[in-house]
Amino acid sequence: MRLFISINFDEETKTKILKVQRRLKEKGRGRFASPDNLHLTLAFLGDVDDAAVPELRAILGSIVFPELSLCFDRTGCFRRDSELWWIGLAEDPALMRLQKELVSKLADAGFRPDAKRFRPHITLARDMYIGRTAADELLPESFYAVADHISLMQSNYPAKKIEYTELFRVDSKRE
Ligand code: 2AM
Repeated sequence: MRLFISINFDEETKTKILKVQRRLKEKGRGRFASPDNLHLTLAFLGDVDDAAVPELRAILGSIVFPELSLCFDRTGCFRRDSELWWIGLAEDPALMRLQKELVSKLADAGFRPDAKRFRPHITLARDMYIGRTAADELLPESFYAVADHISLMQSNYPAKKIEYTELFRVDSKRE
Protein backbone atom coordinates (compact mmCIF):
# COMPACT_ATOMS: atom_id res chain seq x y z
CA MET A 1 0.00 0.00 0.00
CA ARG A 2 1.12 3.50 -0.82
CA LEU A 3 1.34 5.49 2.40
CA PHE A 4 2.14 8.94 3.66
CA ILE A 5 1.78 10.88 6.90
CA SER A 6 -0.06 14.14 6.93
CA ILE A 7 -1.84 16.80 8.93
CA ASN A 8 -5.47 17.13 7.87
CA PHE A 9 -7.66 20.15 8.44
CA ASP A 10 -11.12 20.92 9.77
CA GLU A 11 -13.98 22.07 7.54
CA GLU A 12 -13.54 25.75 8.42
CA THR A 13 -9.89 25.69 7.33
CA LYS A 14 -10.70 23.71 4.18
CA THR A 15 -13.27 26.35 3.25
CA LYS A 16 -10.58 29.04 3.53
CA ILE A 17 -8.16 26.97 1.45
CA LEU A 18 -10.85 26.34 -1.17
CA LYS A 19 -11.41 30.08 -1.51
CA VAL A 20 -7.77 30.39 -2.55
CA GLN A 21 -8.19 27.47 -4.94
CA ARG A 22 -11.23 29.17 -6.48
CA ARG A 23 -9.14 32.26 -7.28
CA LEU A 24 -6.56 29.99 -8.88
CA LYS A 25 -9.29 28.38 -11.00
CA GLU A 26 -10.06 31.78 -12.47
CA LYS A 27 -6.48 31.97 -13.77
CA GLY A 28 -6.52 28.88 -15.94
CA ARG A 29 -7.03 25.20 -16.39
CA GLY A 30 -5.49 22.47 -14.28
CA ARG A 31 -6.18 19.37 -12.21
CA PHE A 32 -7.58 20.79 -9.00
CA ALA A 33 -7.30 18.93 -5.69
CA SER A 34 -10.69 17.84 -4.40
CA PRO A 35 -11.82 19.23 -1.02
CA ASP A 36 -11.36 15.78 0.56
CA ASN A 37 -7.74 15.65 -0.57
CA LEU A 38 -6.42 18.84 1.01
CA HIS A 39 -3.64 17.90 3.44
CA LEU A 40 -0.15 18.83 4.56
CA THR A 41 2.26 15.96 3.88
CA LEU A 42 4.91 15.49 6.55
CA ALA A 43 6.47 12.32 5.18
CA PHE A 44 5.92 10.29 2.02
CA LEU A 45 6.66 6.58 2.44
CA GLY A 46 5.78 5.11 -0.95
CA ASP A 47 4.89 1.42 -1.15
CA VAL A 48 4.87 -0.31 2.22
CA ASP A 49 3.77 -3.82 3.20
CA ASP A 50 0.29 -3.97 4.85
CA ALA A 51 1.87 -5.74 7.81
CA ALA A 52 3.84 -2.60 8.72
CA VAL A 53 0.77 -0.60 9.77
CA PRO A 54 0.91 -1.60 13.49
CA GLU A 55 4.58 -0.59 13.60
CA LEU A 56 3.73 2.74 12.02
CA ARG A 57 1.02 3.22 14.63
CA ALA A 58 3.63 2.68 17.36
CA ILE A 59 6.09 5.11 15.73
CA LEU A 60 3.49 7.87 15.31
CA GLY A 61 2.26 7.25 18.86
CA SER A 62 5.77 7.71 20.25
CA ILE A 63 6.08 11.26 18.95
CA VAL A 64 5.36 13.99 21.46
CA PHE A 65 4.21 17.21 19.81
CA PRO A 66 2.12 20.14 20.96
CA GLU A 67 -1.00 21.43 19.26
CA LEU A 68 0.27 23.71 16.50
CA SER A 69 -1.17 26.96 15.27
CA LEU A 70 -0.20 27.11 11.60
CA CYS A 71 -0.24 30.33 9.63
CA PHE A 72 -1.15 30.10 5.94
CA ASP A 73 0.57 33.15 4.53
CA ARG A 74 1.84 32.37 1.02
CA THR A 75 1.09 30.72 -2.29
CA GLY A 76 3.46 29.55 -4.95
CA CYS A 77 4.21 26.85 -7.47
CA PHE A 78 6.72 24.12 -8.07
CA ARG A 79 7.72 24.04 -11.73
CA ARG A 80 8.57 20.77 -13.42
CA ASP A 81 7.03 20.10 -16.82
CA SER A 82 3.95 21.91 -15.59
CA GLU A 83 3.14 23.95 -12.51
CA LEU A 84 1.96 22.50 -9.22
CA TRP A 85 0.30 25.32 -7.28
CA TRP A 86 0.15 25.30 -3.49
CA ILE A 87 -0.74 27.30 -0.43
CA GLY A 88 2.13 27.40 2.07
CA LEU A 89 2.86 28.10 5.70
CA ALA A 90 4.86 30.68 7.58
CA GLU A 91 8.03 29.28 9.12
CA ASP A 92 7.18 27.29 12.21
CA PRO A 93 9.96 25.73 14.30
CA ALA A 94 7.56 23.35 16.11
CA LEU A 95 6.27 22.01 12.78
CA MET A 96 9.83 21.57 11.48
CA ARG A 97 10.80 19.70 14.69
CA LEU A 98 7.79 17.41 14.39
CA GLN A 99 8.55 16.62 10.75
CA LYS A 100 12.24 16.02 11.47
CA GLU A 101 11.56 13.69 14.39
CA LEU A 102 8.97 11.78 12.36
CA VAL A 103 11.27 11.26 9.37
CA SER A 104 14.17 10.30 11.59
CA LYS A 105 12.13 7.73 13.57
CA LEU A 106 10.74 6.28 10.34
CA ALA A 107 14.23 5.96 8.85
CA ASP A 108 15.58 4.37 12.06
CA ALA A 109 12.83 1.75 11.80
CA GLY A 110 13.87 0.89 8.24
CA PHE A 111 11.22 2.84 6.31
CA ARG A 112 12.32 5.05 3.46
CA PRO A 113 10.71 8.46 3.83
CA ASP A 114 11.21 10.76 0.85
CA ALA A 115 14.41 12.66 1.58
CA LYS A 116 13.54 15.89 -0.24
CA ARG A 117 13.81 19.10 1.77
CA PHE A 118 10.57 19.68 3.66
CA ARG A 119 8.65 22.60 2.18
CA PRO A 120 5.34 22.73 4.05
CA HIS A 121 2.56 23.13 1.51
CA ILE A 122 -0.92 22.01 0.56
CA THR A 123 -1.35 21.17 -3.10
CA LEU A 124 -4.19 23.10 -4.73
CA ALA A 125 -3.70 22.19 -8.38
CA ARG A 126 -1.45 20.25 -10.71
CA ASP A 127 -0.77 20.58 -14.44
CA MET A 128 -1.24 24.33 -14.68
CA TYR A 129 0.50 26.73 -17.06
CA ILE A 130 -0.30 30.20 -15.79
CA GLY A 131 3.15 31.62 -15.17
CA ARG A 132 3.72 34.18 -12.46
CA THR A 133 0.65 35.25 -10.57
CA ALA A 134 0.67 37.91 -7.89
CA ALA A 135 0.47 35.94 -4.65
CA ASP A 136 -1.61 38.57 -2.88
CA GLU A 137 -4.28 38.11 -5.56
CA LEU A 138 -4.64 34.49 -4.51
CA LEU A 139 -4.28 35.04 -0.78
CA PRO A 140 -5.19 38.61 0.18
CA GLU A 141 -5.09 37.85 3.90
CA SER A 142 -3.22 35.19 5.86
CA PHE A 143 -5.12 32.91 8.26
CA TYR A 144 -4.41 30.46 11.06
CA ALA A 145 -5.42 26.84 11.55
CA VAL A 146 -5.03 24.48 14.47
CA ALA A 147 -3.17 21.23 13.82
CA ASP A 148 -3.80 18.79 16.65
CA HIS A 149 -3.05 15.39 15.10
CA ILE A 150 -1.00 13.51 12.53
CA SER A 151 -2.56 10.87 10.28
CA LEU A 152 -1.38 7.80 8.44
CA MET A 153 -2.87 8.10 4.97
CA GLN A 154 -3.26 5.61 2.16
CA SER A 155 -3.09 6.86 -1.39
CA ASN A 156 -5.14 4.96 -3.93
CA TYR A 157 -2.77 5.19 -6.86
CA PRO A 158 -2.86 4.79 -9.76
CA ALA A 159 -6.58 5.47 -9.78
CA LYS A 160 -8.68 7.46 -12.24
CA LYS A 161 -9.32 9.89 -9.46
CA ILE A 162 -6.75 10.44 -6.70
CA GLU A 163 -8.20 9.13 -3.45
CA TYR A 164 -6.72 9.35 0.03
CA THR A 165 -7.99 7.38 3.03
CA GLU A 166 -7.07 8.09 6.63
CA LEU A 167 -6.06 4.79 8.28
CA PHE A 168 -5.62 6.26 11.76
CA ARG A 169 -4.69 9.48 13.51
CA VAL A 170 -2.61 10.28 16.58
CA ASP A 171 -3.42 13.34 18.67
CA SER A 172 -0.96 15.98 19.80
CA LYS A 173 0.31 15.68 23.35
CA ARG A 174 2.67 17.55 25.61
CA GLU A 175 5.45 15.93 27.62
P1 2AM B 1 2.41 16.94 -3.39
O1 2AM B 1 1.02 17.29 -2.93
O2 2AM B 1 3.36 18.04 -3.29
O3 2AM B 1 2.40 16.25 -4.72
C1 2AM B 1 0.53 11.84 -1.55
O4 2AM B 1 1.10 11.59 -2.82
C2 2AM B 1 1.16 13.03 -0.91
O5 2AM B 1 2.56 12.80 -0.67
C3 2AM B 1 1.07 14.33 -1.71
O6 2AM B 1 0.74 15.36 -0.81
C4 2AM B 1 2.46 14.53 -2.27
O7 2AM B 1 2.91 15.86 -2.33
C5 2AM B 1 3.31 13.89 -1.18
N1 2AM B 1 4.63 13.46 -1.67
C6 2AM B 1 5.81 13.82 -1.14
N2 2AM B 1 6.80 13.21 -1.78
C7 2AM B 1 6.26 12.45 -2.76
C8 2AM B 1 6.79 11.59 -3.76
N3 2AM B 1 8.09 11.36 -3.89
N4 2AM B 1 5.90 11.02 -4.61
C9 2AM B 1 4.58 11.24 -4.50
N5 2AM B 1 4.01 12.01 -3.56
C10 2AM B 1 4.85 12.62 -2.69
